[in-house]
Amino acid sequence: KGTHLQHFRVWRGDDTKGELVDYPVEVNEGEVVLDIIHRLQATEANDLAVRWNCKAGKCGSCSAEINGRPRLLCMTRMNTFAVDEVVTVTPLRTFPVIRDLVTDVSFNYTKAREIPSFTPPEGLEPGEYRMQQIDVERSQEFRKCIECYLCQNTCHVVRDHEENKEAFAGPRYLMRVAELDMHPLDAHGNRAAEAQEEHGLGFCNITKCCTEVCPEHIKITDNALIPMKERAVDRKYDPLVWLGDKIFRR
Ligand code: SF4
Ligand code: F3S
Ligand code: FES
Repeated sequence: KGTHLQHFRVWRGDDTKGELVDYPVEVNEGEVVLDIIHRLQATEANDLAVRWNCKAGKCGSCSAEINGRPRLLCMTRMNTFAVDEVVTVTPLRTFPVIRDLVTDVSFNYTKAREIPSFTPPEGLEPGEYRMQQIDVERSQEFRKCIECYLCQNTCHVVRDHEENKEAFAGPRYLMRVAELDMHPLDAHGNRAAEAQEEHGLGFCNITKCCTEVCPEHIKITDNALIPMKERAVDRKYDPLVWLGDKIFRR
């Protein structure tokens, strides 16, 4: 009772070639897709490469695509599939494959480094920072990010357009700019305009696919990207609006 055979189809290969391989595999009650991948490693596919760590949806390592949908392997329960359904597991499509389900996600590290870090006002030392609770809360949501890169993988701006990768930071890192932009003590300068001009905010046409796949349910588009687009436009035509904002919020 509670055990059945499921038809799994897993992408096997490296950066030069690969193919989908079929495996019949045992599934028990309460299991998630990562359990099945581990069972394959223990049985029919000892050398199957997969990246994982916490098995609790918190480390962001086990991102892959299941039946073409970007998901965390450890948070996708087997009972969401019909018993006779073929479950296809493939690597993230937007990043280069290293082997099997493991991709090279260094695009994201590059984008992270391109964003200037928090810049406190001159003369203010750590320990002297004072913020209102409402300002802390405003960006709290964004800090739930587990850096799974599912949003980065899903956004159509880069998913099928390698050529846009240079200019576009992706939803996760545009959200990081938004977080700093909302920080009342950040004195770096006009972050919204910078997002527009240097990190490719203008590529985003608010399709919200990033928000849909976020396992932390962060409202990336509504709470980070759209407000930043509005500020980028306002400020472009009226620098005093931005200056006013910044002073008023302090
Ligand atoms: Fe993952 Fe959500 Fe963070 Fe994007 S914003 S990397 S989908 S947790
Ligand atoms: Fe891409 Fe999200 Fe914008 S999917 S287009 S960054 S709303
Ligand atoms: Fe950590 Fe899935 S293994 S999020």
